Amino acid sequence: MALILGIESSCDETGAAVVASGEKIISNVVASQIATHQRYGGVVPELASREHLRALVPVVRQALAEAGQTYQSLDAIAVTQGPGLMGALLAGISYAKALAFAAEKPLIAVNHLEGHIHAVLLEAKRKGNGQMEFPVLALVVSGGHTHLYLAAQYDAGWTYENVGRTRDDAAGEAFDKVAKLLGLGYPGGPIVDGLSKHGNPEAVPFALAQMKHRDRNQQGIPTGARVRFDFSYSGLKTAVLRYVQLHNLQASIDARRNALSSIAKPTVEDYLGLCDAQTFNLIASFQRAIVDDLTSKTLAAAREYDAETIFVTGGVAANNELRQRFGREAAMEGLPAHFPSRPLSTDNAAMIAAAAYPKFLAGDFAAMDLSAESGLVLR
Ligand code: KG4
Ligand code: ZN
Repeated sequence: MALILGIESSCDETGAAVVASGEKIISNVVASQIATHQRYGGVVPELASREHLRALVPVVRQALAEAGQTYQSLDAIAVTQGPGLMGALLAGISYAKALAFAAEKPLIAVNHLEGHIHAVLLEAKRKGNGQMEFPVLALVVSGGHTHLYLAAQYDAGWTYENVGRTRDDAAGEAFDKVAKLLGLGYPGGPIVDGLSKHGNPEAVPFALAQMKHRDRNQQGIPTGARVRFDFSYSGLKTAVLRYVQLHNLQASIDARRNALSSIAKPTVEDYLGLCDAQTFNLIASFQRAIVDDLTSKTLAAAREYDAETIFVTGGVAANNELRQRFGREAAMEGLPAHFPSRPLSTDNAAMIAAAAYPKFLAGDFAAMDLSAESGLVLR
């Protein structure tokens, strides 16, 4: 059994977890910074770095204490190298390097997106169902990313080919921006998810940009080699803004924003009292448009690339409607669709420790000059 301590600090959650041999979560601690960023309606990078510096030591200590482990009993220390916010990543990496050096443990660098993919495997293994049919098509959909990866297995590790990505806003970013626009607070995804069931998702017909296209080489000439399935959500955000302007909703939005700012933790009842039927319809229709697009493009990519299995992961994978739609529509095509549990969908360190395990087996360790890569690519 190999015990790996994972450390995650790529965005606004400070996470530490101890995972045994990439499959058993012994502890998983997450300190959320939502309270810090809430008043700004989004993550403020400088504040995120400072909050990580404050939270890292207690979070790691708590993860070790809950696991009944010490620095000495660990086999390796894994840390998120990127992608993410530069300062936030550096906080976690500096601390992980110092720990690895002091405790004389190997250091393992993990791509955050591979972590999200391994969160699905962790959950599947927990249910005793860790054997996957390849190729796996993984939709990684979060606040910073909307990516489709075709994953293949080699030895103990995986390789990834990106066959789709967002051209502008990530899906989670669209949830957050639209919630902010409608005076609903931050982060927008869980709020929109909870309120959508009170509206008619067909009330506002949103049309989304469809961008299935052949890959292009650097000169912009189609190579004709691979079909891509890219996403775009900034137009949808503008369409919501136009709807607000056309229907004169701004005054009621400002009143809602004011009312919510005086409530520390708004409940569903608070929201129900502050939104009318038209707003619920708008929210439900917005969510439906995103869920339609994510589901249909992923299934089209699965057909194009003869995928045997679908993974859906990242913060937006916590969304109820998205889970239901994938469950139903993938089953109709005879494809198993796997999700992480909700706590493993959003950022956490258990997924980082799990993704590090194949690298541990392969002796793929990071040097002490490891640094953050905010735009790290997954291959
Ligand atoms: O994976 P994550 O924790 O952090 C990133 O790597 O970005 O994802 C956070 C994103 C936020 O945009 C948040 O609004 C969204 O995931 N999210 C949701 C839900 N829960 C979180 N979006 C839709 N429905 C949800 N239930
Ligand atoms: Zn993430």
